[in-house]
Amino acid sequence: MFEKIDHIGIAVRDLDRALRFYRDQLGLELKEIEEVDEQKVKIAMVPVSESKLELLESTDPAGPVGKFIAKKGEGFHHISFRVSGLEDKLKRLKEQGVELIDHEPRYGAGGAKVAFLHPRSTGGILIELCEH
Ligand code: CO
Repeated sequence: MFEKIDHIGIAVRDLDRALRFYRDQLGLELKEIEEVDEQKVKIAMVPVSESKLELLESTDPAGPVGKFIAKKGEGFHHISFRVSGLEDKLKRLKEQGVELIDHEPRYGAGGAKVAFLHPRSTGGILIELCEH
């Protein structure tokens, strides 16, 4: 079941510079900064009411966000839906011919289980499913 939009991922070149906008100028609150080594990113979580912005700074040009920024520049990266029953949902999507990036959930920011769907199957949007 889809519960809500958990967060929107935004690729940034420089987290400190991004926070000067989102925190200092927009006045949003920075909840935490976390490094997710597996994804080669440093992540700042910025809650916006019931949802969040996930600001992603690459820690390695060969990582997924590093490659994304090299190709497309900074900006919108992914939308994350909070779901229950993530494994089942992935299995069902696969049966329906949806191309998955992650066939099994892996660990993401905040200890959530996450899995990405390929933009080729979604009309060009990188979609993350997460379960807390
Ligand atoms: Co995310």
